[in-house]
Amino acid sequence: MIWKSVSVFFRSSACLLSALIAFPALHSLGADAQTNRYQSFRFGVCYYPEQWPENLWESDAQRMQDCGVNTVRMGEFGWALMEPREGHYDFSLFDRAIDTLGRHGIKTIFGTPTATPPKWLTHNYPEVLGVLETGQRVNDQSRRQYNYNSPVYRNLSRKIVEELARHYRDNTNIIGWQIDNELNNENPEDFSDSTRAAFRTWLKRKYHTLDELNARWGTVVWSQIYSDWDQIDLPFPTPAFHNPALMLDFKRFTSDSATSYLNDQVEILRRYRPNDFLTHNGAFKNINYYNFSRSLDLHACDNYPTFESNPRYPTGATLTLVRGFNGRMMIMEELSGPAGQTYMLRTPAPGQVRLWAMQTIAHGADGLLHFRWRSAERGAEEYWFGVLDHDNVPRARFKDFKREGQEMSKLGSQILGSKVVSGIAVIKDFEDEWVFDEQYLTREIKIGAVYNALFQAASEQRHNLDFVGPTADLSKYKLVFAPQLALMDRALASRLQKFVERGGTLVMSAHSAIKDRDNAFTMATIPIAGLTNVFGAGLDSFQTYPPPSATNNSVRFDDGHSVPVSVFAEVLHPTTARVIAHWTGDFLKDSPAVTEQQFGKGKAVYYGSLFNVDAARYLVRRYARELELKPLLENVPEQVEVTCRTKGAAHFYFLLNHGNSAATVNLGEGFRDLLTDQISPASITLPPYGYEVLERDLSSTPSGS
Ligand code: GAL
Repeated sequence: MIWKSVSVFFRSSACLLSALIAFPALHSLGADAQTNRYQSFRFGVCYYPEQWPENLWESDAQRMQDCGVNTVRMGEFGWALMEPREGHYDFSLFDRAIDTLGRHGIKTIFGTPTATPPKWLTHNYPEVLGVLETGQRVNDQSRRQYNYNSPVYRNLSRKIVEELARHYRDNTNIIGWQIDNELNNENPEDFSDSTRAAFRTWLKRKYHTLDELNARWGTVVWSQIYSDWDQIDLPFPTPAFHNPALMLDFKRFTSDSATSYLNDQVEILRRYRPNDFLTHNGAFKNINYYNFSRSLDLHACDNYPTFESNPRYPTGATLTLVRGFNGRMMIMEELSGPAGQTYMLRTPAPGQVRLWAMQTIAHGADGLLHFRWRSAERGAEEYWFGVLDHDNVPRARFKDFKREGQEMSKLGSQILGSKVVSGIAVIKDFEDEWVFDEQYLTREIKIGAVYNALFQAASEQRHNLDFVGPTADLSKYKLVFAPQLALMDRALASRLQKFVERGGTLVMSAHSAIKDRDNAFTMATIPIAGLTNVFGAGLDSFQTYPPPSATNNSVRFDDGHSVPVSVFAEVLHPTTARVIAHWTGDFLKDSPAVTEQQFGKGKAVYYGSLFNVDAARYLVRRYARELELKPLLENVPEQVEVTCRTKGAAHFYFLLNHGNSAATVNLGEGFRDLLTDQISPASITLPPYGYEVLERDLSSTPSGS
């Protein structure tokens, strides 16, 4: 468990020792749906005035204005300047920068600076530093070196945020705040003494008695029975394996700690700046973002597609995921060109930066800032290129940025508040991800790849798709996928049952509903929690294939179509369900692999393997057809991605050519080009990496959605 940057999918996120961890009641923090603090489309850049001579600021602001910039983010790494000595505050540099930009009509999203504690802090209070699982304290010569369970750090970070909020309480150029920066990037877990103490406190609150904890963790196995709370430790390296219940609780605790730390700052900022929007950027390990972002007005995504060799689907999937955290999304950091740190990523082809920026809007972003205005001349990040090069000479990237700014200013107000409306949902339960992070079973199991496969299948077939949490309202969907939901409880099972009873189609994969929320098997037949009844089938037995599993077996459907196995081949035992597919090989040959059961007005489908791309394609096609979910658009070339955002009767179609060749789309009549405000011709040709945003006014809801 080294400290590293990991995104949910692919890279790609108090005085609590003495008292209990203070988790403020989220509802009191004011991210209520009625209060719309994010009111206009924001376009701009991340700006670091502290890294440049002040005599450049005016021309920077002028150039930004010429490019259509209306917003910058600043401040998030500036603590050493804001509080050069403990208790001595100086915001004057930021005052002047905010003011300079403000005179050019550019508003500021201020980043609270707590991701980079100053040297005096880490030297005077070394106990705030994080500790690795090896027990080694981290060095402070970089960023994110602190541990958010340290009461001292919590105290000092609350103080700087309160000073900041008080200082800017009347500043009309500030419109929003980013809290900290990319929590859990680089340090998704901590092994310090403060974290150990906080973990024990968290466990006491959860279990109340050691008898309860011992029973639910199953500590009788391997003589792990605790007789004192102080015997419980963090999951440091051990000779053999850890208790799965402890591991899952450690992740839940880490997520709650991050959320509590965030909410310290939310509480302060809401007090001083009640009309500003609050956000946080990123999606990293060990945070349940559905809980985390509840107190925020919107969640921000940092989008760097060149971490992927083929970013189209992984990026779309990640954007879709982040959009689902609290329903609103902006992009706080968007790739601008070549990028690297000690490594170097590939340089985007001409047009790709603009295409990827538009892809974020296509998937629901209500604003976008590029990282960063100018490439850093020195210090960390000197290889991460901005809109401008180090020499401040405007080149192709600057021209592209200017064009993007013009387009966003036409588009922004029209699409703001429109939503990606989907008929298909995939349940994403962070706790399942944490189970597989620890009990990975085979190295082929990558829960992120499963979400990606489902997203890709829906996108290829021109359907919008949502990722939703396990407590989401499913009633607006027709087709719901439940991929390897290992942990099941009565509440979730009954939501699934209701969804099916009312007419939905639920497709659940293998390795679902096998354990309870203690990460423990039960004595019930799988799928547990009453789901055998809903599916009319139970798990009889299974085979686990080591990687690569695909050639070992396949699922043959009743229409003759075959799909390769993925890791598990479950043999299902139908009671009332109909078998619609069988295993074709191994000693499982001809045994039931997939069942279907009509239940209430809907259908419950039990798919006896994990979803790979082939399975996802087949299942989306079969059930979308059956449910009459029509594609958003038809006859669109494969290289063109299509999404749709809807506002009232207006439907905004995004056509994104991810190919390096031109692509012609025969749309037919009835579309208006949002970027030119002209009626769109019936047939349009998108240049390589080109895009169009078209509006169609329909009285009915678009299908595929
Ligand atoms: C993000 C981070 C930024 C910057 C950027 C490029 O993860 O939030 O501060 O480091 O990556 O490296």
